[in-house]
Amino acid sequence: MTAGPLRTLYVFGAGGHGREVAWIARAVHPSVRIVHLVDDERYAGEPVNGAPVAHVSRVVSGDDAAFVTAVGDADLRRAAAATLIAAGLTPLALVHPSAEVTPTARIGAGAVIFPGAFLSDAVRVGAHAVVNVGGSLSHDVVVGDFATLSPGVRVAGNVSIGEGVFLGIGASVVNGRVGAPLTIGPGAVVGAGATVIADIAPGTVVGGVPARPLHRDDTR
Ligand SMILES: CC(C)(COP(=O)(O)OP(=O)(O)OC[C@H]1O[C@@H](n2cnc3c(N)ncnc32)[C@H](O)[C@@H]1OP(=O)(O)O)[C@@H](O)C(=O)NCCC(=O)NCCS
Repeated sequence: MTAGPLRTLYVFGAGGHGREVAWIARAVHPSVRIVHLVDDERYAGEPVNGAPVAHVSRVVSGDDAAFVTAVGDADLRRAAAATLIAAGLTPLALVHPSAEVTPTARIGAGAVIFPGAFLSDAVRVGAHAVVNVGGSLSHDVVVGDFATLSPGVRVAGNVSIGEGVFLGIGASVVNGRVGAPLTIGPGAVVGAGATVIADIAPGTVVGGVPARPLHRDDTR
């Protein structure tokens, strides 16, 4: 944690998701100075909603500075978090005031919980994970580090979502059982609107109702 009041928050990402995360940060820390970070010099320079945009190499660490990642891609988020932690910055979790978080829920460093989300009893959200607008996580749901839950994702009780999993907008996941959670393996992608009714193997791309592996053209 930072020692004094948070003065500067570095937001890695300056696109749409980055602007949304900056807005949440201002809702939680009204006087914080936002600096967006990018890993490509071409995108540095032009302010975003009044906040400067700097190359990630320009980061200045300090007790009053923290960071949050705000890009959709889990690998990019993972790399950025490693770089910024190595630079001496502290990851900051952000929970929008309109999100409902039960006292037994736990939220990892650098995770972002969007407006209207609900984290029920004994939910665990991993580091640098994202629960987007209106996400609903029932009891005993575990969300791995760097996972992304898009707007409107609904997860029933006793479900384990692996590291770096992506759940598309409006996806639903039925419940697992006590001691035998329904498991979505690390790196899996669940398409928009899918309904997951059984375990998903790591790295698999699934979609539809019920969710099944999608036939994809990986040559593009
Ligand atoms: C699942 C997803 C990642 C697949 O993307 P892709 O690999 O580019 O797949 P393609 O568009 O090439 O589609 C491959 C096949 O899967 C089907 N498909 C794609 N997405 C699907 C979905 N969500 N549900 C059901 N079928 C889907 C396509 O119709 C296509 O089928 P066909 O070969 O019979 O025509 C993507 O379609 C998706 O749903 N992304 C989620 C986006 C999202 O929610 N964003 C939120 C941002 S906040």
